[in-house]
Amino acid sequence: MNIVYLNGVYLPAEDAKISVFDRGFLFGDSVYEVMPYYQGVGFRLQEHLERLQHSLRALQIQLELDWETLLDELVWQNGGGNLSVYLQITRGSAGKRSHSYADDLQPTVFACCTPIRDIYKDGPEDIEPIRAIVTADLRWHRCDIKSTCLLPNILVVHQAQAQQADEALMMRDGKLTEGSSCNLFVIQRGVIYTPKRSSEILGGITRELILQLADEHGIPYQEVDLDYDALIGADEVWISSSTRGVVPVISVDDQPIGDGGKGPLWKDMFELFTRYQQKLMTGM
Ligand code: PDD
Repeated sequence: MNIVYLNGVYLPAEDAKISVFDRGFLFGDSVYEVMPYYQGVGFRLQEHLERLQHSLRALQIQLELDWETLLDELVWQNGGGNLSVYLQITRGSAGKRSHSYADDLQPTVFACCTPIRDIYKDGPEDIEPIRAIVTADLRWHRCDIKSTCLLPNILVVHQAQAQQADEALMMRDGKLTEGSSCNLFVIQRGVIYTPKRSSEILGGITRELILQLADEHGIPYQEVDLDYDALIGADEVWISSSTRGVVPVISVDDQPIGDGGKGPLWKDMFELFTRYQQKLMTGM
């Protein structure tokens, strides 16, 4: 059974109900996190919870909860294993629609899980590479907040699908920012390049881990501005997210990247990533 968490209660998904006046529903006045659990254990959970605090602070939503216990219980109630846990906090409902809000609203807290791939079984040969398009970044200038206002992201990924691609990479003022739900990496002559952390992109937890692993294993990287030519002329392109890990991009706007296959540095990073996950999960 699919058990979800809603405002202090664990219950079947079909029984979970929120008010039609909830500000998350009416205005997207809410934030979220997506956290992977492997074999029932949260992966980089503290980093996700720190980013959640950043988002909540930005919206001035005050809420003290024991997130770790709440999420662990949800994972346990859903049988543990490999799950992606979605957590959303809205500003709550005042029982009417009004742009302005009072400071004493009770936030709505919702969490649910979905199964994700088993990292212990997958090798680099099992990873499906993706095709991407490039399109305009029409989002606001606070993309560092993990807000549920995802309409621009949804429209561009739909545009990608309409063009037989899997992901949309976005560009603002001639600079690449990130994907619709992932960060972006461009590899040229053995160096990893990725857009700088700023309010124009989400500070991805997976992005941070890739840079940490590169650092630990002597792979050079730089956080820089990237333009379209750098992308198309790259040896390799990768995207990253908590649910997808690190994934190779084999074409952009129908033009092959490198030799059009999974690149050698991607394979190295994938191995480092998998080894890191295993070490964290098994303590070995
Ligand atoms: N998205 N950039 C955007 C716009 C994202 O939505 C995400 C994640 C990322 C990658 O961040 P992380 O490595 O912390 O998952 C970058 C999640 C998975 C989602 O919306 O489902």
